[in-house]
Amino acid sequence: MGKTESALHAGATQATGSLAEYWMPFTSNRDFKADPKMVVRAEGMYYISDRGHRIIDASSGLFCVNAGHARKEIADAVSAQLRELDFVPPFTRGHPKSFELASRVAALTPGDLKRIFFVNSGSEAVDTAMKIALAYHQAKGQPGRTMFVSRERAYHGVNFGGVALSGIVNNRRKYGPTLHVAHMRHTHVKENFFVRGQGEHGADLADDLQRFVNLYGAENIAACFVEPIAGSTGCLVPPKGYLDRLRRICDTHGILLVFDEVITGFGRTGEPFAAQSFGVTPDLMTMAKGITNAAQPMGAVAVSTRVHDAIMDAAQDGAIELFHGYTYSGHPAACAAGLATLDIYAREDLFARGRALSPYFLDAIWSLRDLPIVTDIRGYGMFATIDLAPGAAPGARGQALQKKLFDNGLHLKPTGDAALIAPPLIAEKSHIDSIAEILRSTLATL
Ligand SMILES: Cc1ncc(COP(=O)(O)O)c(C=O)c1O
Repeated sequence: MGKTESALHAGATQATGSLAEYWMPFTSNRDFKADPKMVVRAEGMYYISDRGHRIIDASSGLFCVNAGHARKEIADAVSAQLRELDFVPPFTRGHPKSFELASRVAALTPGDLKRIFFVNSGSEAVDTAMKIALAYHQAKGQPGRTMFVSRERAYHGVNFGGVALSGIVNNRRKYGPTLHVAHMRHTHVKENFFVRGQGEHGADLADDLQRFVNLYGAENIAACFVEPIAGSTGCLVPPKGYLDRLRRICDTHGILLVFDEVITGFGRTGEPFAAQSFGVTPDLMTMAKGITNAAQPMGAVAVSTRVHDAIMDAAQDGAIELFHGYTYSGHPAACAAGLATLDIYAREDLFARGRALSPYFLDAIWSLRDLPIVTDIRGYGMFATIDLAPGAAPGARGQALQKKLFDNGLHLKPTGDAALIAPPLIAEKSHIDSIAEILRSTLATL
């Protein structure tokens, strides 16, 4: 038996069998299995490890548990739903909660983003949005618009469409070229290092889209996908004027603008969506994660009525208008979780709460700037990132950091040598203080 196949380490409070069979996603499996960071329970702001340690959750799980962990209201709603109606085929059959949730989500989305297509993850939302963009242009008699524009350092999930859009080298390089995608430059410019919120520099990077129009022809470009704040590569806040400029170029050339709000949605930026925080409305918007507070897998695409109606109008009466959907689209349990989650967001006014807490949170993260290892800090709303000077190899320091932090009672999401911090919106100031203290003491040991 190899080291990775051994049973869980001594000291665990809960017996666990073999670790060999489960192939973990986006994880160094050998590393984890040699020193498992096992979580057995969660409540509010905390995870509880198999050793009984309380670990403050500084990244809302994976940017998804915006209302804090183990919310009883959501668990009760899912449980009741499964007892009453466990499953309905979403093709040709409906159930009331999917319609109700679509209306509730549409009440939060800006502008005319009022048609909601349900999926089961952020990756599915992205691929669905790509298909809707293609279907729209076909409906408008422009089938040549098949190319997409994305951005360096973008993360749009792991399905083939999202991988083609991806601007993260390791997520792309092993899977070969797929769709035709041109990548704009990212917006992480030196002039904005350590700037809180939106930097003054870099709006002109949006002109990369215009250059692609000049190079490829607008008649070949379907859509431009961006995360309003690029999340997975570390909170790249859009420079002032950047998103407006993308919007203008898209409008001029008939290109659909898609915001991937899988991380930024549901209060992370102080509004329901980043589109509202930055005052720019896209034509399609993807979301997932916070839609159910992560208690059930779910995602959605919000589509402008203009785009939706064009696809509807192009289909013959009685025909299926969009040949797309998943067995679990609008699953009753996910819809029940979504409704209970939106109730909590509204009842506890969590988006406004996050907005009010943001200055305190950003102050706490910026207080770490004096550490020599810190090379940049970025932040907006309840989302921040600390870049660390690389160690022996790229990513080694980030990996060491997340392991040490867990042992010191803090969970966060690392990407490369960056620490991504996005606490649940229920956080108290004392939680923010603890996060900053643990970060400071741990960073000092790296
Ligand atoms: C912006 C963005 N899009 C898509 C995804 C993919 O979501 P999922 O992991 O639910 O497929 C993520 C996940 O973090 C994301 O951050």
